[in-house]
Amino acid sequence: MVRVNPLATLSMPLLDEDMRRFEPLLAESIIIGDPFLDEVTTHLLAAGGKRLRPLLAIASATGGDREGTQDDLLGGVSLELMHLASLYHDDVMDEATMRRNVESVNSRFGNLVAIVAGDFLMARSAGIAADLGTPVASLLARTLALLTRGQVSEVRTAFDVNRSMDDYYEAIKGKTAALMASSCRVGALTSGASEERADALDAYGEAIGLVFQLRDDILDITAVDGQLGKPAGQDLAEGIYTYPVLVALAEPTIGPRLSEILGSPLDDDQREDARLLVAQSDGIAAAMSAALGHVDEAVAATEGFGSARLQQGFSDLARSLLVGLPEA
Ligand code: IPE
Ligand code: IPE
Ligand code: MG
Ligand code: MG
Repeated sequence: MVRVNPLATLSMPLLDEDMRRFEPLLAESIIIGDPFLDEVTTHLLAAGGKRLRPLLAIASATGGDREGTQDDLLGGVSLELMHLASLYHDDVMDEATMRRNVESVNSRFGNLVAIVAGDFLMARSAGIAADLGTPVASLLARTLALLTRGQVSEVRTAFDVNRSMDDYYEAIKGKTAALMASSCRVGALTSGASEERADALDAYGEAIGLVFQLRDDILDITAVDGQLGKPAGQDLAEGIYTYPVLVALAEPTIGPRLSEILGSPLDDDQREDARLLVAQSDGIAAAMSAALGHVDEAVAATEGFGSARLQQGFSDLARSLLVGLPEA
């Protein structure tokens, strides 16, 4: 699988430099000198990650035309910490064992530690947002509420073979798209952008958030071992029925066979049977065409940026999210 590399795709030399200055700020933001807590909170940070949300924030602020200010970078720190915290909590919810190609925090340190360390990261995110002023703090508080509602919506419909496409979109808009939309909007706030540019950036972030989650959900069905840094078919086993699965469930021949397997937790053989059924259905092609539609929305939103360099970079970034997926 070709990996998404947002920084390279954006191809903005000044942004490369910003991201070099960003990393130590991020690391410093969570170290407090408590050896155990520091070990837990830096576990995933050290394992890598694409830093997509801070990239969105900083590029939205600078347009790639100037160096990021300290506030632009700190906006990125606040967003990456909220993202990181959500991963700590998400891996507890999903009983994940791997994250960023290393053992997940819940698996390594236990659920209780993963939850409270996630809370700590969330608190650091909020503190940094507050230092950036009320508009940023208020936006991040609203974003966290949306993210949490998305996660709750997903839990509510877990193992439900009658989950609707509206349920699916409600969940992914909240759990993934809201944070990407707000990442772009934070950049607009720290750079004092016009309302029009802020709205265009927000619409862009929301659209690529949908593409991003559809990508994750498609790869859960189509990936072969080792591609994901986590096992394929995990969503099926956990009862999270995503776009391709919902389409497969509605098909006249595959649907009834699939719904016989789904509806409760799966062992490894059942998971593989279900995954192959979805892979044979029209679900992947349908999810791909939905993803393409959201890429078009994202590219359309870039027209409101009022910056040619950013328009180009963000359009390329949106399209790059389709790389490594099956042909639509
Ligand atoms: C993972 O996000 C969570 C989803 C929204 C699917 P990323 O793929 O951005 O995770 P990292 O930060 O690069 O590890
Ligand atoms: C992604 O959740 C959104 C959040 C982490 C809030 P998923 O459960 O779909 O993401 P992965 O596949 O674990 O990264
Ligand atoms: Mg998960
Ligand atoms: Mg999840």
